[in-house]
Amino acid sequence: MSRYYSVAIDGPSGAGKSTIAKMCAERFGFLYIDTGAIYRTVGVAVRNAGIGSKDEAGVTAVLPSIDIAIRHDGNGLQRMILNGQDVTDEIRLPEISIYASDVSAMPAVRSFLLEKQREFARTNNVIMDGRDIGTVVLPDADLKIFLTASPDERAQRRFEELQLRGTQATYDDVLRDIVYRDTNDSRRSAAPLRPAEGAVILDTTGNTLTQSFELICGLIEEKMSR
Ligand code: DC
Repeated sequence: MSRYYSVAIDGPSGAGKSTIAKMCAERFGFLYIDTGAIYRTVGVAVRNAGIGSKDEAGVTAVLPSIDIAIRHDGNGLQRMILNGQDVTDEIRLPEISIYASDVSAMPAVRSFLLEKQREFARTNNVIMDGRDIGTVVLPDADLKIFLTASPDERAQRRFEELQLRGTQATYDDVLRDIVYRDTNDSRRSAAPLRPAEGAVILDTTGNTLTQSFELICGLIEEKMSR
């Protein structure tokens, strides 16, 4: 039987998980799965169906009609396909961040997406990032990392990212969104955001991206050399 490696990176929004995970996936030739993008895609489906982000009965009812596919383009970018339509850009809208955070607190949504996520790790070396990868999705991952940074620093990083994308948002909007989602994601009863047992906790406040990247590459190399 072939042996596949799995790396789980969890942490609050704006901690740099996806940027670093993508870079690591490239260096080690692993498949990168951004699970937040999957929750965001459910958020788009719910919004498109005219259902409120906190309407649990409405969201649960619409789940069977949601078909989500993931494609990786030539640059390793994960494209999200919702019922045949590419929603990769749309899922990044600030409005969808709130939808994703709200619907992700619903147990029906989490179980709807669980197997979809696990399937990737059965057939690939993966680096998966999210909120519950080390605690729920891949509790037996070879390496679990909990990546965090101060709310101010995360808001600043996210603000700069949105500006580069041309999305209109002020720094205060972004900070408010981060604080809202931190509270939502860590206080919910279904798979709350918390470090997994055995996770390496990395606070990247004050680090450059390269420093955090190299640190994590070192941890992966150490695991793979055993
Ligand atoms: O990582 P992100 O900001 O793109 O994630 C969007 C939302 O999805 C986030 O507020 C919480 C939720 N999420 C989750 O509950 N579990 C995951 N594994 C990934 C994301």
